[in-house]
Amino acid sequence: MEYRRLGSSDLEISTVGLGCWAMGGWWWGGTDVNDSIAAVQKAIDVGINFIDTAPVYGWGLSEEIVGRALEGRRDKAVVATKCGLIWDREEGEYYFEDAGHKVYRCLRKENIIREAEASLRRLRTDWIDLYQCHWPDKTTALEETMEALVALRDQGKIRAIGVSNFTVPMHEECLRHGPLHSSQPRYNMLDRKIEKDVLPFCREHNIGVVVYSPLEQGILTGKVTPDRKFAPDDYRTHQPWFQRKNLERALGFLERIRPIAEGHGKSLAQLAIAWVVAQPGVTAAIVGARRPEQVEHNAGGSDWRLSEDELKVIESELAALGGPER
Ligand SMILES: NC(=O)c1ccc[n+]([C@@H]2O[C@H](COP(=O)([O-])OP(=O)(O)OC[C@H]3O[C@@H](n4cnc5c(N)ncnc54)[C@H](OP(=O)(O)O)[C@@H]3O)[C@@H](O)[C@H]2O)c1
Repeated sequence: MEYRRLGSSDLEISTVGLGCWAMGGWWWGGTDVNDSIAAVQKAIDVGINFIDTAPVYGWGLSEEIVGRALEGRRDKAVVATKCGLIWDREEGEYYFEDAGHKVYRCLRKENIIREAEASLRRLRTDWIDLYQCHWPDKTTALEETMEALVALRDQGKIRAIGVSNFTVPMHEECLRHGPLHSSQPRYNMLDRKIEKDVLPFCREHNIGVVVYSPLEQGILTGKVTPDRKFAPDDYRTHQPWFQRKNLERALGFLERIRPIAEGHGKSLAQLAIAWVVAQPGVTAAIVGARRPEQVEHNAGGSDWRLSEDELKVIESELAALGGPER
């Protein structure tokens, strides 16, 4: 497993991280708690130290799973969680309503301090390694948000400060009020929007970039076929690349690049992960998984390199593929 420094923080993280959203079950068709705990423990066993979760993933359940899984191994993990999506009070910017919960984006100081305490309890730990604002909240000045994050860091409750789904001007505003160690945007072969702004900005300012959905939520494994049946509450069925026509095009692209993976004795999933971590400025890929065998497999996305020629072939195939039809 390869490890890299996360921006200007003192955290060393594995280039393949474990994403724990699906473990919470919500929007992913339910969960199996024992499998999920085993998946987190498997991550540590195979050298994946970077574990990403959030309070909203299963309304606290994902954090609880991570906390239970890491009992006795906390020092081996770099735990990242988030703040700013709340469902227990109506405060900040209304976001959406689902599963009987009204979700608000709230990055107010008092809220962040309160959320951090709740996450520490669920995670069964005294410190959070990386604390990230989950989504922007346009009702709160980032100066106030950063004040809370810097205070938590000064108290030793968090070790590094991050943001997610933030624009470049929002990153700039954060930097005016304290250190910003990492950014968590969406990025994969099929979704490359950040290459034109967030990625170069973070490179220039030594901000670590830990990207989410590196497998386009499973599509880039090649295992999602048009006849796959999803649980009714699995939100992927609404995503553009999961629509039959787009999915068939994506599968055609995957067949064309499969020989590159096979040439290295790797799978398409491992190729997709290696491609993401090969992009300049990307520190790590946060790969979602909820079963130990998936985690073990995904660890094989680290520690090998695509050649310049292979990267060029993938580039031209991606140009030919284009974006999803909407
Ligand atoms: N900051 C944010 O706003 C945000 C948003 C989204 C995600 N995230 C973070 O990023 C993480 C990853 O993103 P993601 O879960 O959206 O997408 P992803 O990593 O692109 O895809 C995860 C899905 O791919 C499938 N998969 C994973 N490994 C596999 C393997 N070896 N073989 C076959 N299938 C495999 C699994 O689907 P099945 O479950 O169907 O097997 C898994 O749930 C999340 O867990 C979360 O921590 C953050």
